[in-house]
Amino acid sequence: MAKKKINSIDRTALTPNYAPAWFTPVRGKKSILWDEEGNDYVDFGGGIAVTCLGHSHPELIKVLKDQSTKLWHVSNYLYNEPALELSSLLAKKTFADKVFFSNSGNEANEAAIKLARRYFYDKGRPEKHEVVVFTDAFHGRSMLNISAGDSKSQKTGFGPLLKGFKRAKFNDLKSVEKVITKNTAAIFVEPILGESGIIRASNPFLMGLRKLADKNNVLLIFDEVQSGVGRTGTLMAYMGYGVIPDISTLAKGLGGGIPIGATLAKNHIAKAFQPGTHGSTFGGNPLACIVAKKVIEIISSQKVLSGVIKKTISFTEKLNSLSEKYDIFSDVRSAGLWIGCDFKRVKSSDFIQAAYNEGLIVVQAAGEKTIRLAPSLIISDKEINEGFKRFEKAYKNII
Ligand SMILES: Cc1ncc(COP(=O)(O)O)c(C=O)c1O
Repeated sequence: MAKKKINSIDRTALTPNYAPAWFTPVRGKKSILWDEEGNDYVDFGGGIAVTCLGHSHPELIKVLKDQSTKLWHVSNYLYNEPALELSSLLAKKTFADKVFFSNSGNEANEAAIKLARRYFYDKGRPEKHEVVVFTDAFHGRSMLNISAGDSKSQKTGFGPLLKGFKRAKFNDLKSVEKVITKNTAAIFVEPILGESGIIRASNPFLMGLRKLADKNNVLLIFDEVQSGVGRTGTLMAYMGYGVIPDISTLAKGLGGGIPIGATLAKNHIAKAFQPGTHGSTFGGNPLACIVAKKVIEIISSQKVLSGVIKKTISFTEKLNSLSEKYDIFSDVRSAGLWIGCDFKRVKSSDFIQAAYNEGLIVVQAAGEKTIRLAPSLIISDKEINEGFKRFEKAYKNII
């Protein structure tokens, strides 16, 4: 059990918008983190689906170190080699022809919506500006993304919000048909709701969205900030569905822990981003892009992607057998190594604290009863087994 001790570093100067654990990780290797006291934690949270290759991956460290002695930053008035190479790699491996780089999921989504609106503006259809969004959606915390998202509490006190969003019901095509008008520019959707607890769009729903978009001259935008980069067992979630978007966003796992966002688009749409229309000082940063290129190279290997499927089976079997033993969960949903577990009898916040005490990190999802697991995609069997020993102990401590 991790010993509680208050770190001597001042904790009063950060804004209080997060509620962090009492311990502070200072080092990580593979799927283990160590705090300032030397206590170890099995990381089943992956920094919320970010550290997709675990901590301190030697190949990521190598490319980052090499790049750090060459070039850290140039403005976007100049090309840089890592950004060029990463954009070509993403274009080769996905539906996209072009990529816009930014620093986060928020910015990637902002760029996606701006691109869709500008595309119709350039086509002489400026009235097409509305965006269809969904119940239980989460797209980030910027003004645009809280407006597109469906969380009341995330909007409280921040108005006036952005106009132009029409909400339909997730997994309900009829509700989408009702809100599409001649003014609609885009349908903006997470193929799998992440923050809301790993809820999959059904195949017919995503296919239906594609058809509705085509029929109504509307762009289909997938927010793959959390679902992308191997998380679901394919490089991007759309590949598992076989439904191709017009624009998609990536962030989180893309940098394996280095901040980067990307907005991917087909050529005829990306043309709307002519010089001066949009930009980002740090977007396409060489340090971030060199790491992301290596992440994509590693994750898109068959070995890693088939490993995700095997590990998913291992996680779900272990969760199900724990549930049989203790009657823990009312539901366990997985989309690859991205798993939502609804507790029957305990609050997720109580379990998370108990897990910390036993040296295990899991992540909160929406609601009081749900946790999310989003571990490294290359977590070892040994780490999985150790994590589940701690999971069981933590649960036993609070029932
Ligand atoms: C689906 C989705 N979109 C967007 C975001 C926002 O990304 P960021 O926090 O990197 O801005 C998140 C973050 O959790 C997300 O899950």
